[in-house]
Amino acid sequence: MTTREEREQELERAGYNLFNVPGPRVLVDLLTDSGTGAMSSEQWAGLQRGDESYAGSASWFRFRDAVQELFPFEHVIPTHQGRAAEKILFSALGGEGRTIPNNTHFDTTRANVEFSGAEALDLPVSAALVPSTLHPFKGNMDVDALRRVLAEADVPVVFVTVTNNSGGGQPVSIENLRAVREACDAAGVPLFLDACRFAENAWFVKLREDGYADTPVADIVREMASLADGMTMSAKKDPLGNIGGWLALNDDGLAEQCRNLLILTEGFPTYGGMAGRDMDALAQGLREAVDEDYLRYRIRSTAYLGEALDRAGIPVVLPVGGHAVYIDARAFLPQIPPLEYPGQALAVALYLEGGIRGCEIGTVMFGRQPDGSEQPAAMDLVRLAIPRRTYTQSHVDYVIEVCEYVAERAAELRGLEIVEQPPVLRHFTARFAPLRS
Ligand code: F0G
Repeated sequence: MTTREEREQELERAGYNLFNVPGPRVLVDLLTDSGTGAMSSEQWAGLQRGDESYAGSASWFRFRDAVQELFPFEHVIPTHQGRAAEKILFSALGGEGRTIPNNTHFDTTRANVEFSGAEALDLPVSAALVPSTLHPFKGNMDVDALRRVLAEADVPVVFVTVTNNSGGGQPVSIENLRAVREACDAAGVPLFLDACRFAENAWFVKLREDGYADTPVADIVREMASLADGMTMSAKKDPLGNIGGWLALNDDGLAEQCRNLLILTEGFPTYGGMAGRDMDALAQGLREAVDEDYLRYRIRSTAYLGEALDRAGIPVVLPVGGHAVYIDARAFLPQIPPLEYPGQALAVALYLEGGIRGCEIGTVMFGRQPDGSEQPAAMDLVRLAIPRRTYTQSHVDYVIEVCEYVAERAAELRGLEIVEQPPVLRHFTARFAPLRS
Protein backbone atom coordinates (compact mmCIF):
# COMPACT_ATOMS: atom_id res chain seq x y z
CA MET A 1 0.00 0.00 0.00
CA THR A 2 1.16 3.54 -0.78
CA THR A 3 -0.52 6.89 -0.21
CA ARG A 4 -1.61 9.16 -3.05
CA GLU A 5 1.14 11.58 -2.02
CA GLU A 6 3.79 8.86 -2.22
CA ARG A 7 2.54 7.86 -5.64
CA GLU A 8 2.67 11.47 -6.78
CA GLN A 9 6.35 11.58 -5.81
CA GLU A 10 6.94 8.20 -7.40
CA LEU A 11 5.47 9.45 -10.69
CA GLU A 12 7.69 12.53 -10.66
CA ARG A 13 10.76 10.36 -10.04
CA ALA A 14 9.67 8.00 -12.83
CA GLY A 15 9.20 10.76 -15.42
CA TYR A 16 5.52 9.72 -15.57
CA ASN A 17 6.54 6.42 -17.16
CA LEU A 18 5.08 3.47 -15.26
CA PHE A 19 7.88 1.18 -16.51
CA ASN A 20 10.15 3.25 -14.20
CA VAL A 21 8.02 2.67 -11.08
CA PRO A 22 9.40 -0.06 -8.77
CA GLY A 23 7.10 -3.09 -8.44
CA PRO A 24 6.79 -2.77 -4.63
CA ARG A 25 5.26 0.69 -5.17
CA VAL A 26 2.44 -0.86 -7.26
CA LEU A 27 -0.65 -2.31 -5.57
CA VAL A 28 -2.29 -4.20 -8.46
CA ASP A 29 0.12 -4.74 -11.32
CA LEU A 30 -1.64 -5.07 -14.68
CA LEU A 31 1.34 -3.83 -16.72
CA THR A 32 1.60 -7.16 -18.52
CA ASP A 33 0.58 -10.80 -18.52
CA SER A 34 4.13 -11.68 -19.60
CA GLY A 35 6.09 -13.76 -17.11
CA THR A 36 3.82 -12.60 -14.30
CA GLY A 37 1.67 -15.72 -13.93
CA ALA A 38 1.73 -18.00 -10.90
CA MET A 39 3.31 -21.38 -11.60
CA SER A 40 1.41 -24.48 -10.50
CA SER A 41 2.67 -27.07 -8.01
CA GLU A 42 3.48 -29.39 -10.92
CA GLN A 43 5.48 -26.65 -12.62
CA TRP A 44 7.43 -26.09 -9.40
CA ALA A 45 8.01 -29.83 -9.27
CA GLY A 46 9.35 -29.51 -12.82
CA LEU A 47 11.90 -26.97 -11.60
CA GLN A 48 13.19 -29.56 -9.16
CA ARG A 49 13.49 -32.14 -11.94
CA GLY A 50 15.57 -29.80 -14.11
CA ASP A 51 18.60 -31.43 -15.74
CA GLU A 52 21.32 -28.85 -16.33
CA SER A 53 23.49 -30.80 -18.80
CA TYR A 54 24.90 -28.30 -21.28
CA ALA A 55 24.07 -30.43 -24.33
CA GLY A 56 21.06 -32.67 -24.79
CA SER A 57 19.66 -32.48 -21.25
CA ALA A 58 16.65 -34.60 -20.29
CA SER A 59 14.78 -31.33 -19.67
CA TRP A 60 15.38 -30.28 -23.29
CA PHE A 61 13.80 -33.46 -24.62
CA ARG A 62 10.78 -33.09 -22.33
CA PHE A 63 10.40 -29.46 -23.44
CA ARG A 64 10.84 -30.23 -27.16
CA ASP A 65 8.31 -33.08 -27.00
CA ALA A 66 5.74 -30.88 -25.23
CA VAL A 67 6.17 -28.15 -27.87
CA GLN A 68 5.87 -30.61 -30.75
CA GLU A 69 2.81 -32.26 -29.25
CA LEU A 70 0.91 -29.01 -29.88
CA PHE A 71 3.04 -27.52 -32.67
CA PRO A 72 4.42 -30.40 -34.74
CA PHE A 73 7.11 -28.39 -36.58
CA GLU A 74 10.32 -30.21 -37.59
CA HIS A 75 12.71 -27.86 -35.81
CA VAL A 76 12.32 -26.34 -32.34
CA ILE A 77 14.90 -23.70 -31.43
CA PRO A 78 14.75 -22.61 -27.78
CA THR A 79 15.29 -18.93 -26.87
CA HIS A 80 15.22 -16.94 -23.64
CA GLN A 81 12.04 -15.12 -24.68
CA GLY A 82 9.96 -14.19 -27.70
CA ARG A 83 11.94 -11.25 -28.98
CA ALA A 84 15.10 -13.37 -29.23
CA ALA A 85 13.24 -15.67 -31.62
CA GLU A 86 12.10 -12.60 -33.57
CA LYS A 87 15.61 -11.15 -33.71
CA ILE A 88 17.03 -14.40 -35.08
CA LEU A 89 14.27 -14.96 -37.65
CA PHE A 90 14.24 -11.37 -38.95
CA SER A 91 18.06 -11.33 -39.11
CA ALA A 92 17.69 -14.25 -41.52
CA LEU A 93 14.60 -13.09 -43.44
CA GLY A 94 14.38 -9.30 -43.06
CA GLY A 95 16.48 -6.57 -44.64
CA GLU A 96 16.18 -3.40 -46.76
CA GLY A 97 13.42 -3.39 -49.37
CA ARG A 98 11.42 -6.22 -47.79
CA THR A 99 7.95 -6.04 -46.28
CA ILE A 100 6.62 -8.22 -43.46
CA PRO A 101 2.82 -8.17 -43.11
CA ASN A 102 1.06 -9.11 -39.86
CA ASN A 103 -2.50 -8.69 -38.61
CA THR A 104 -0.84 -6.31 -36.14
CA HIS A 105 2.80 -6.40 -35.07
CA PHE A 106 3.40 -6.12 -31.36
CA ASP A 107 6.03 -3.61 -30.21
CA THR A 108 9.12 -5.85 -30.14
CA THR A 109 8.09 -7.62 -33.35
CA ARG A 110 7.72 -4.33 -35.20
CA ALA A 111 11.02 -3.08 -33.75
CA ASN A 112 12.90 -6.24 -34.76
CA VAL A 113 11.48 -6.11 -38.30
CA GLU A 114 12.41 -2.44 -38.61
CA PHE A 115 15.86 -2.99 -37.06
CA SER A 116 16.59 -5.44 -39.89
CA GLY A 117 15.77 -2.67 -42.39
CA ALA A 118 12.45 -4.19 -43.50
CA GLU A 119 9.00 -2.60 -43.34
CA ALA A 120 6.52 -3.88 -40.71
CA LEU A 121 3.06 -3.65 -42.24
CA ASP A 122 -0.18 -4.05 -40.21
CA LEU A 123 -3.17 -5.48 -42.12
CA PRO A 124 -6.00 -5.90 -39.57
CA VAL A 125 -9.62 -6.21 -40.72
CA SER A 126 -11.37 -2.83 -40.53
CA ALA A 127 -13.54 -3.89 -37.54
CA ALA A 128 -10.33 -4.19 -35.49
CA LEU A 129 -9.85 -0.44 -35.55
CA VAL A 130 -13.24 0.50 -34.10
CA PRO A 131 -13.11 -0.33 -30.37
CA SER A 132 -16.89 -0.42 -29.90
CA THR A 133 -17.71 -2.66 -32.91
CA LEU A 134 -18.74 -6.17 -31.94
CA HIS A 135 -17.15 -8.87 -34.11
CA PRO A 136 -16.26 -12.41 -32.99
CA PHE A 137 -12.81 -12.42 -34.65
CA LYS A 138 -11.46 -8.90 -34.57
CA GLY A 139 -7.94 -10.32 -34.71
CA ASN A 140 -8.43 -11.45 -38.32
CA MET A 141 -6.18 -10.28 -41.12
CA ASP A 142 -7.51 -8.38 -44.14
CA VAL A 143 -6.88 -11.09 -46.74
CA ASP A 144 -7.66 -8.91 -49.80
CA ALA A 145 -5.13 -6.35 -48.62
CA LEU A 146 -2.64 -9.17 -48.03
CA ARG A 147 -3.09 -10.46 -51.61
CA ARG A 148 -2.37 -6.97 -52.96
CA VAL A 149 0.78 -6.68 -50.85
CA LEU A 150 1.93 -10.16 -51.88
CA ALA A 151 1.52 -9.17 -55.55
CA GLU A 152 3.48 -5.94 -55.22
CA ALA A 153 6.08 -6.22 -52.46
CA ASP A 154 9.08 -8.39 -51.67
CA VAL A 155 7.57 -10.43 -48.82
CA PRO A 156 9.84 -13.07 -47.23
CA VAL A 157 7.26 -14.22 -44.63
CA VAL A 158 3.71 -13.39 -43.53
CA PHE A 159 2.93 -13.28 -39.80
CA VAL A 160 -0.34 -13.72 -37.95
CA THR A 161 -0.40 -12.86 -34.24
CA VAL A 162 -2.72 -14.97 -32.08
CA THR A 163 -4.37 -13.37 -30.27
CA ASN A 164 -3.83 -9.87 -31.64
CA ASN A 165 -2.23 -8.13 -28.67
CA SER A 166 -1.95 -4.56 -30.01
CA GLY A 167 -5.53 -4.74 -31.26
CA GLY A 168 -7.29 -5.67 -28.03
CA GLY A 169 -6.34 -9.30 -27.36
CA GLN A 170 -8.74 -10.33 -30.12
CA PRO A 171 -8.79 -13.82 -31.66
CA VAL A 172 -8.16 -14.96 -35.24
CA SER A 173 -10.56 -17.54 -36.72
CA ILE A 174 -9.42 -20.77 -38.30
CA GLU A 175 -11.33 -19.69 -41.42
CA ASN A 176 -9.23 -16.52 -41.64
CA LEU A 177 -5.99 -18.42 -41.01
CA ARG A 178 -6.95 -20.81 -43.80
CA ALA A 179 -7.60 -17.90 -46.20
CA VAL A 180 -4.26 -16.32 -45.27
CA ARG A 181 -2.61 -19.69 -45.88
CA GLU A 182 -4.16 -19.91 -49.35
CA ALA A 183 -2.95 -16.40 -50.22
CA CYS A 184 0.56 -17.32 -49.00
CA ASP A 185 0.53 -20.58 -51.00
CA ALA A 186 -0.53 -18.74 -54.17
CA ALA A 187 2.44 -16.38 -53.71
CA GLY A 188 4.88 -19.06 -52.54
CA VAL A 189 5.52 -17.23 -49.25
CA PRO A 190 5.73 -18.97 -45.84
CA LEU A 191 3.27 -18.22 -43.04
CA PHE A 192 4.43 -17.92 -39.42
CA LEU A 193 2.41 -17.52 -36.23
CA ASP A 194 3.37 -15.18 -33.42
CA ALA A 195 1.69 -17.62 -31.11
CA CYS A 196 2.11 -16.20 -27.56
CA ARG A 197 -1.59 -16.55 -26.71
CA PHE A 198 -2.41 -19.61 -28.81
CA ALA A 199 -4.51 -21.33 -26.13
CA GLU A 200 -6.73 -18.30 -25.53
CA ASN A 201 -7.14 -17.99 -29.31
CA ALA A 202 -8.12 -21.66 -29.60
CA TRP A 203 -10.61 -21.25 -26.74
CA PHE A 204 -12.33 -18.38 -28.60
CA VAL A 205 -12.43 -20.56 -31.73
CA LYS A 206 -14.14 -23.29 -29.72
CA LEU A 207 -16.68 -20.79 -28.33
CA ARG A 208 -17.34 -18.74 -31.44
CA GLU A 209 -16.46 -20.52 -34.68
CA ASP A 210 -18.96 -22.82 -36.37
CA GLY A 211 -18.07 -26.48 -36.10
CA TYR A 212 -15.58 -26.30 -33.21
CA ALA A 213 -17.81 -26.51 -30.12
CA ASP A 214 -16.95 -30.17 -29.57
CA THR A 215 -13.31 -30.03 -30.70
CA PRO A 216 -10.73 -30.29 -27.88
CA VAL A 217 -8.66 -27.10 -27.54
CA ALA A 218 -5.44 -29.04 -28.08
CA ASP A 219 -6.77 -30.21 -31.47
CA ILE A 220 -7.69 -26.65 -32.42
CA VAL A 221 -4.12 -25.58 -31.54
CA ARG A 222 -2.74 -28.36 -33.75
CA GLU A 223 -5.00 -27.23 -36.56
CA MET A 224 -3.70 -23.66 -36.20
CA ALA A 225 -0.14 -25.02 -36.34
CA SER A 226 -0.92 -27.18 -39.38
CA LEU A 227 -1.82 -24.03 -41.33
CA ALA A 228 1.59 -22.44 -40.68
CA ASP A 229 5.19 -23.11 -41.66
CA GLY A 230 6.62 -21.96 -38.38
CA MET A 231 6.17 -19.82 -35.29
CA THR A 232 7.82 -17.46 -32.85
CA MET A 233 6.84 -17.82 -29.24
CA SER A 234 7.09 -16.04 -25.95
CA ALA A 235 6.60 -18.79 -23.36
CA LYS A 236 5.95 -16.07 -20.76
CA LYS A 237 2.31 -15.87 -21.82
CA ASP A 238 0.03 -18.88 -22.39
CA PRO A 239 2.69 -21.53 -21.50
CA LEU A 240 2.65 -20.10 -17.95
CA GLY A 241 6.40 -19.57 -17.68
CA ASN A 242 8.25 -16.75 -15.97
CA ILE A 243 10.81 -16.80 -18.80
CA GLY A 244 11.37 -18.67 -22.06
CA GLY A 245 10.47 -18.85 -25.73
CA TRP A 246 11.17 -20.60 -28.99
CA LEU A 247 11.30 -20.44 -32.73
CA ALA A 248 9.89 -23.46 -34.57
CA LEU A 249 9.80 -24.15 -38.29
CA ASN A 250 9.85 -26.81 -41.01
CA ASP A 251 12.42 -25.41 -43.45
CA ASP A 252 15.74 -27.26 -42.92
CA GLY A 253 17.98 -24.61 -44.50
CA LEU A 254 16.41 -21.71 -42.64
CA ALA A 255 16.53 -23.70 -39.38
CA GLU A 256 20.26 -24.25 -39.80
CA GLN A 257 20.83 -20.55 -40.43
CA CYS A 258 18.75 -19.68 -37.34
CA ARG A 259 20.57 -22.23 -35.14
CA ASN A 260 23.90 -20.67 -36.12
CA LEU A 261 22.61 -17.25 -35.09
CA LEU A 262 21.25 -18.81 -31.88
CA ILE A 263 24.68 -20.13 -30.87
CA LEU A 264 26.14 -16.68 -31.41
CA THR A 265 23.90 -14.89 -28.92
CA GLU A 266 21.53 -17.23 -27.04
CA GLY A 267 23.26 -20.54 -26.43
CA PHE A 268 23.61 -24.12 -27.59
CA PRO A 269 20.57 -25.40 -29.57
CA THR A 270 19.34 -27.68 -26.78
CA TYR A 271 18.83 -24.88 -24.26
CA GLY A 272 18.96 -21.56 -26.15
CA GLY A 273 18.54 -18.98 -23.43
CA MET A 274 16.93 -21.22 -20.83
CA ALA A 275 18.05 -23.29 -17.85
CA GLY A 276 17.01 -26.95 -17.88
CA ARG A 277 14.61 -26.28 -15.01
CA ASP A 278 12.85 -23.53 -17.00
CA MET A 279 12.30 -25.98 -19.84
CA ASP A 280 10.72 -28.50 -17.47
CA ALA A 281 8.41 -25.85 -16.02
CA LEU A 282 7.34 -24.95 -19.56
CA ALA A 283 6.77 -28.55 -20.63
CA GLN A 284 4.26 -28.79 -17.78
CA GLY A 285 2.88 -25.26 -18.42
CA LEU A 286 2.08 -26.19 -22.02
CA ARG A 287 -0.12 -29.04 -20.82
CA GLU A 288 -1.91 -26.79 -18.34
CA ALA A 289 -2.39 -24.03 -20.94
CA VAL A 290 -4.83 -26.15 -22.94
CA ASP A 291 -6.81 -27.37 -19.91
CA GLU A 292 -10.35 -26.30 -20.72
CA ASP A 293 -11.45 -25.71 -17.12
CA TYR A 294 -8.52 -23.34 -16.68
CA LEU A 295 -9.30 -21.55 -19.97
CA ARG A 296 -12.96 -21.13 -19.05
CA TYR A 297 -11.93 -19.52 -15.75
CA ARG A 298 -9.26 -17.40 -17.42
CA ILE A 299 -11.45 -15.93 -20.16
CA ARG A 300 -14.40 -15.38 -17.81
CA SER A 301 -12.17 -13.52 -15.33
CA THR A 302 -11.02 -11.11 -18.02
CA ALA A 303 -14.60 -10.63 -19.25
CA TYR A 304 -15.71 -9.94 -15.63
CA LEU A 305 -13.50 -6.85 -15.49
CA GLY A 306 -14.35 -5.70 -19.03
CA GLU A 307 -18.10 -6.11 -18.57
CA ALA A 308 -18.04 -4.17 -15.29
CA LEU A 309 -16.20 -1.26 -16.91
CA ASP A 310 -18.58 -1.33 -19.88
CA ARG A 311 -21.56 -1.21 -17.50
CA ALA A 312 -19.99 1.78 -15.75
CA GLY A 313 -19.93 3.63 -19.09
CA ILE A 314 -16.15 3.36 -19.51
CA PRO A 315 -15.34 2.76 -23.20
CA VAL A 316 -13.53 -0.56 -23.64
CA VAL A 317 -12.59 -2.61 -26.68
CA LEU A 318 -15.47 -5.00 -27.32
CA PRO A 319 -15.85 -7.89 -27.21
CA VAL A 320 -13.49 -8.20 -24.25
CA GLY A 321 -10.21 -9.88 -25.28
CA GLY A 322 -8.43 -12.87 -23.81
CA HIS A 323 -5.56 -11.67 -21.65
CA ALA A 324 -6.52 -8.08 -21.00
CA VAL A 325 -9.15 -5.38 -20.95
CA TYR A 326 -8.34 -2.43 -23.18
CA ILE A 327 -9.79 0.97 -22.28
CA ASP A 328 -10.34 3.25 -25.28
CA ALA A 329 -8.51 6.28 -23.89
CA ARG A 330 -9.19 8.40 -26.99
CA ALA A 331 -12.94 8.09 -26.36
CA PHE A 332 -12.57 8.28 -22.55
CA LEU A 333 -10.53 11.52 -22.65
CA PRO A 334 -11.75 13.37 -25.77
CA GLN A 335 -10.23 16.61 -24.46
CA ILE A 336 -6.70 15.17 -24.92
CA PRO A 337 -5.48 14.99 -28.56
CA PRO A 338 -3.53 11.85 -29.58
CA LEU A 339 -0.20 13.68 -29.69
CA GLU A 340 -0.70 14.62 -26.03
CA TYR A 341 -1.04 10.90 -25.25
CA PRO A 342 -4.49 10.23 -23.74
CA GLY A 343 -3.48 6.61 -23.03
CA GLN A 344 -0.46 7.68 -21.03
CA ALA A 345 -2.57 10.28 -19.15
CA LEU A 346 -5.11 7.61 -18.21
CA ALA A 347 -2.47 5.05 -17.19
CA VAL A 348 -0.83 7.68 -14.97
CA ALA A 349 -4.21 8.60 -13.41
CA LEU A 350 -5.00 4.95 -12.57
CA TYR A 351 -1.67 4.67 -10.78
CA LEU A 352 -2.01 8.01 -9.00
CA GLU A 353 -5.52 7.36 -7.75
CA GLY A 354 -5.32 3.65 -7.00
CA GLY A 355 -1.79 2.27 -7.33
CA ILE A 356 -2.86 0.28 -10.42
CA ARG A 357 -0.30 -0.14 -13.16
CA GLY A 358 -1.61 -0.56 -16.72
CA CYS A 359 0.16 -0.07 -20.03
CA GLU A 360 -0.37 2.49 -22.78
CA ILE A 361 -0.82 0.86 -26.17
CA GLY A 362 -1.21 3.82 -28.47
CA THR A 363 0.67 6.83 -29.73
CA VAL A 364 3.47 6.55 -27.16
CA MET A 365 4.10 2.93 -28.18
CA PHE A 366 3.49 3.20 -31.93
CA GLY A 367 3.40 6.92 -32.87
CA ARG A 368 7.07 7.33 -33.70
CA GLN A 369 7.87 6.47 -37.34
CA PRO A 370 11.17 4.95 -38.51
CA ASP A 371 12.10 8.37 -40.03
CA GLY A 372 11.70 10.04 -36.60
CA SER A 373 8.42 11.83 -37.38
CA GLU A 374 5.33 11.31 -35.24
CA GLN A 375 1.73 10.36 -36.08
CA PRO A 376 -1.25 9.31 -33.97
CA ALA A 377 -1.42 5.52 -33.62
CA ALA A 378 -4.49 3.74 -35.00
CA MET A 379 -5.98 3.71 -31.47
CA ASP A 380 -5.04 5.07 -28.05
CA LEU A 381 -5.66 2.26 -25.59
CA VAL A 382 -4.74 1.47 -22.00
CA ARG A 383 -4.29 -2.24 -21.50
CA LEU A 384 -5.12 -3.76 -18.14
CA ALA A 385 -3.41 -7.13 -18.61
CA ILE A 386 -4.41 -9.94 -16.28
CA PRO A 387 -1.51 -12.08 -15.01
CA ARG A 388 -2.45 -15.76 -15.10
CA ARG A 389 -3.70 -17.36 -11.85
CA THR A 390 -2.36 -14.41 -9.82
CA TYR A 391 -5.06 -12.01 -8.65
CA THR A 392 -8.38 -12.70 -6.94
CA GLN A 393 -11.82 -11.36 -7.71
CA SER A 394 -11.52 -8.89 -4.82
CA HIS A 395 -8.39 -7.38 -6.41
CA VAL A 396 -10.35 -7.00 -9.63
CA ASP A 397 -13.31 -5.44 -7.78
CA TYR A 398 -10.88 -2.88 -6.39
CA VAL A 399 -9.61 -2.15 -9.93
CA ILE A 400 -13.22 -1.58 -11.05
CA GLU A 401 -13.78 0.89 -8.19
CA VAL A 402 -10.63 2.84 -9.06
CA CYS A 403 -11.61 3.01 -12.74
CA GLU A 404 -15.04 4.35 -11.76
CA TYR A 405 -13.42 6.94 -9.48
CA VAL A 406 -11.13 8.10 -12.32
CA ALA A 407 -14.10 8.15 -14.73
CA GLU A 408 -15.89 10.64 -12.47
CA ARG A 409 -12.89 12.96 -12.76
CA ALA A 410 -12.04 12.24 -16.41
CA ALA A 411 -12.82 15.78 -17.59
CA GLU A 412 -10.08 17.17 -15.31
CA LEU A 413 -7.29 15.04 -16.82
CA ARG A 414 -4.71 16.67 -19.06
CA GLY A 415 -2.15 15.25 -21.50
CA LEU A 416 1.64 14.95 -21.33
CA GLU A 417 4.64 15.85 -23.41
CA ILE A 418 7.73 13.73 -23.96
CA VAL A 419 10.88 15.34 -22.59
CA GLU A 420 13.36 12.51 -23.24
CA GLN A 421 13.16 9.48 -25.54
CA PRO A 422 15.37 6.80 -27.09
CA PRO A 423 15.34 6.20 -30.88
CA VAL A 424 13.36 2.90 -30.76
CA LEU A 425 10.85 1.25 -28.39
CA ARG A 426 10.51 4.60 -26.65
CA HIS A 427 7.62 3.59 -24.39
CA PHE A 428 9.94 1.55 -22.16
CA THR A 429 12.24 4.43 -21.18
CA ALA A 430 10.81 7.79 -22.34
CA ARG A 431 10.30 10.50 -19.72
CA PHE A 432 7.22 12.75 -19.72
CA ALA A 433 6.05 16.01 -18.18
CA PRO A 434 2.37 16.74 -17.50
CA LEU A 435 0.74 19.57 -19.51
CA ARG A 436 -1.07 21.89 -17.13
CA SER A 437 -3.68 23.47 -19.39
N1 F0G B 1 4.70 -11.08 -29.61
C1 F0G B 1 3.63 -10.68 -28.89
C2 F0G B 1 2.26 -10.75 -29.50
C3 F0G B 1 3.82 -10.23 -27.57
O1 F0G B 1 2.76 -9.86 -26.86
C4 F0G B 1 5.13 -10.18 -27.04
C5 F0G B 1 5.37 -9.67 -25.70
C6 F0G B 1 6.20 -10.62 -27.83
C7 F0G B 1 5.93 -11.06 -29.11
C8 F0G B 1 7.62 -10.61 -27.33
O2 F0G B 1 7.83 -11.57 -26.35
O3 F0G B 1 8.39 -10.31 -24.27
O4 F0G B 1 8.97 -12.72 -24.52
O5 F0G B 1 10.20 -11.01 -25.80
N2 F0G B 1 4.51 -9.03 -25.06
C9 F0G B 1 4.59 -8.57 -23.69
C10 F0G B 1 3.35 -7.80 -23.37
C11 F0G B 1 5.86 -7.94 -23.28
O6 F0G B 1 3.34 -7.09 -22.34
O7 F0G B 1 2.36 -7.93 -24.08
P1 F0G B 1 8.90 -11.39 -25.16
